[in-house]
Amino acid sequence: MCKPLIAGNWKMHGTTESATNLAAQLARHRTQEANEKEGAEIIVFPPFVHIPSVVAATANSNISVGAQDCSQYPDGAYTGEISVEMLLDQGCQYVLVGHSERRAVIGEGNQMVAEKFKAAQAGGLIPILCVGESLQQRQQGTTVAVVAEQIAAVIDLVGLADVCRAVIAYEPVWAIGTGETASPQQAQDVHSAIRAQLGEAGSSTTLLYGGSVNASNAAELFAQPDINGGLVGGASLKADEFLNIAKSIEA
Ligand code: 13P
Repeated sequence: MCKPLIAGNWKMHGTTESATNLAAQLARHRTQEANEKEGAEIIVFPPFVHIPSVVAATANSNISVGAQDCSQYPDGAYTGEISVEMLLDQGCQYVLVGHSERRAVIGEGNQMVAEKFKAAQAGGLIPILCVGESLQQRQQGTTVAVVAEQIAAVIDLVGLADVCRAVIAYEPVWAIGTGETASPQQAQDVHSAIRAQLGEAGSSTTLLYGGSVNASNAAELFAQPDINGGLVGGASLKADEFLNIAKSIEA
């Protein structure tokens, strides 16, 4: 069984006050008891500097906290970078690797993403590997090949078994922050190709969809056989909307 999961990527938004308030609102609805009843795990990914306040605000709930990125290096002279050990030390359990904004804006390539994945997993964080094609690649018909190559780079470095015990998020770049969601069928087609690439070992790997997920379109996306939850950007900044998205996977 794939573990259902709803992740909120807060990107570069918020102050200590707004991040703490949002976390506290989510935590009020997500006590240990409610989570056991409702099933889907909730993870939030605040900006690095807000991680300590969000960890504190969610301490008595079943919400997990992750980081939006990590260094591939364990420690040393890497100005501005944050290591896996530092994230663990702050109470993180998860980390996003290879988000399309980091691939496009910061220039992270498949090899660097694979190294970050390896460092995260070896250090004890659960990586959420983000993959997805650009609009141009979709129009050229190379979606499945692009996504397969992004995943293959990680498999080449750490092996299939280690990729299968992580989480993979398919986020078509053209659907991120645009209000244009992949149709449930478009998303399912890519998820099913990912599942096929992982083979038997990936039959219980959690696969998330991301890209303009909101409370109105979530249920239909999550009803697809190979979609086990969502990686939500903009809509995760509103507690009610995010909780409604989480509920739609549990319905
Ligand atoms: P939006 O939900 O704002 O489209 O962002 C998706 C995303 O990039 C999550 O990582």
